Amino acid sequence: MNIPLVIRDVQASDEIAWLRLWAAYNRFYEATVAPDVTDRTWKRLLDATNPLFCRVAEKAGEVIGFANNVLHEGTWVAEPICYLEDLFVTPEARGGGVGRALIRDLVDLGRTRHWSRLYWHTRENNPARKLYDEFVKADDFVRYRMDL
Ligand SMILES: CC(C)(COP(=O)(O)OP(=O)(O)OC[C@H]1O[C@@H](n2cnc3c(N)ncnc32)[C@H](O)[C@@H]1OP(=O)(O)O)[C@@H](O)C(=O)NCCC(=O)NCCS
Repeated sequence: MNIPLVIRDVQASDEIAWLRLWAAYNRFYEATVAPDVTDRTWKRLLDATNPLFCRVAEKAGEVIGFANNVLHEGTWVAEPICYLEDLFVTPEARGGGVGRALIRDLVDLGRTRHWSRLYWHTRENNPARKLYDEFVKADDFVRYRMDL
């Protein structure tokens, strides 16, 4: 039987699954996020009035991937811009189209909700660029980032 993949908004009952994915995602980036920041991030993702939002991929009742996003304003456009900040699929589920489905879902949501743009960053050598190139070619901007 072909078990369908569902992409949906995160909900409060996903907390344990989301935290597990979040921890694995931070390990992937060798990042340390303070527990109180993780806690605030989780609460903001659930708050419909906050510009952070999360879409999860669920299969057979298990959450196997997420896209954490930020909707923000822009000076060059009137409609919201969506920044896909964190994309993650459990290692066991990779290569089966889950990452593609999470990005496609954002594209579809954005078209329905009239966002002007969807964008994301990745490391230059991330092999997932093969997937990203299916959607759009990377532009030639480079990122300057100061921690304050
Ligand atoms: C990036 C990521 C979300 C992709 O999820 P996924 O479910 O494996 O992606 P898909 O199965 O939809 O990939 C679609 C295609 O891209 C290729 N691809 C995607 N990620 C890849 C990777 N890390 N390495 C090699 N190929 C990859 C797949 O081979 C597949 O090609 P095919 O359809 O021709 O076989 C997942 O690999 C991941 O969580 N990686 C670790 C975290 C990360 O890099 N996040 C993104 C940071 S910007």
